[in-house]
Amino acid sequence: MQIISTVAQLRARLGCERAIAFVPTMGNLHEGHLNLMRLAREHGDCVVASIFVNPLQFGPNEDFDQYPRTLDADCAKLQGLVDVVFAPSVSEMYPVPQTVFVEPPPVANELCGAARPGHFRGMATVVLKLLNIVQSQTALFGKKDYQQLHIIRQLVTQLNLPVGIIGGETVRAKDGLALSSRNQYLTDAERNEAVFLSRTLQTMRQDLLQGDCDFTLLQQQAVKALSDRGWSVDYVAIRNQSDLQPASGGQRDLVILAAARLGKTCLLDNVEVSVGE
Ligand code: PAJ
Repeated sequence: MQIISTVAQLRARLGCERAIAFVPTMGNLHEGHLNLMRLAREHGDCVVASIFVNPLQFGPNEDFDQYPRTLDADCAKLQGLVDVVFAPSVSEMYPVPQTVFVEPPPVANELCGAARPGHFRGMATVVLKLLNIVQSQTALFGKKDYQQLHIIRQLVTQLNLPVGIIGGETVRAKDGLALSSRNQYLTDAERNEAVFLSRTLQTMRQDLLQGDCDFTLLQQQAVKALSDRGWSVDYVAIRNQSDLQPASGGQRDLVILAAARLGKTCLLDNVEVSVGE
C-alpha cells in the first residue's frame, strides 16, 4: 500500500491502471468506510482511498477544527484493503483560493442542506476535484449519507462524468446505530439514547409496509416521539428514492430520512422502504 500526498505523484502512480475503484473519505475510519473499501475491491483491480477533511463543506460554526484527524491509525486499517491512500494537504487540494464551484441541484437546500447552507456545494466541488484527480472508472459512496449520494449521482449524470457510482449499504453497530465518525462526540448517556433514531425509522418503515400512507402524520409522530425524549429534530422526511422529492403516494420506492441532535451532536440516518409489493 502506497501513501501519496501530491496530485502529481498520484497521477504518476495511477497512469497505467485501467480499472480503478475509488473511495473518498474524510478519515477517522470505521467499519462503514472499510466495508466500502471491500466493496471497491469487487469493482476494480486498483483500489484508491482518499483521506481529506474538506474545509469547503464545513460551515463557520461547524466542527472543521475539531474533526478527528487520525491518519496513522487510518492507514493501519487500510493496510491490505487498498493499494493507494491519497492524503493531500489543504494547500495541495486548494493551491489557489477556490472561486469555481459546483452548483448542486435544488434538493441540496433541503433536508441536511437547510441547516447547513453551502455544505453540499463544498462537498460536490471537492468530489468533482477528487474524481478529476483520480480518474477512476468507479467511485463508491455510502447510503448512510443518502442525500449526498443522490447529489453525487446528479453531479455525475448532469455533468457527464465518465465514472460509475456505487452505493454501499449502511453499516450499523449491534444496537442499530449507524456508524459515524461523529458518534465519538456522544457522551455515554447520549450513546445509549442514540439507538432510538434508527428504532424510530424502523417503526415508520413497518407502518408504511402495513399500508399506512398518511405520510404527514407519520412524520409528525416521529418528530414528536424523538422530541419527547429530548432530541432536537432537524427533520424526519418520507421521500421518493429516485428524486428525493416528498413522497405523494404515487411511487413505491421510498426512503425515510432523518437528522436529529443529541446535545451538540447531529446524527443522520435513513432507511429505504418499497411499499405495495
Ligand atoms: P466521510 O463522512 O468520511 O464518509 C466517507 C464515505 O463513507 C461516504 O460515502 C459515507 O457515506 C460513507 N459512510 C460513512 N459512514 C458509513 C456507514 N455507517 N455505512 C456505510 N457507509 C458509510 O462523506 C464524506 O466523508 C465526505 O462528504 C466526502 C464524500 C469524502 C467528501 O468530502
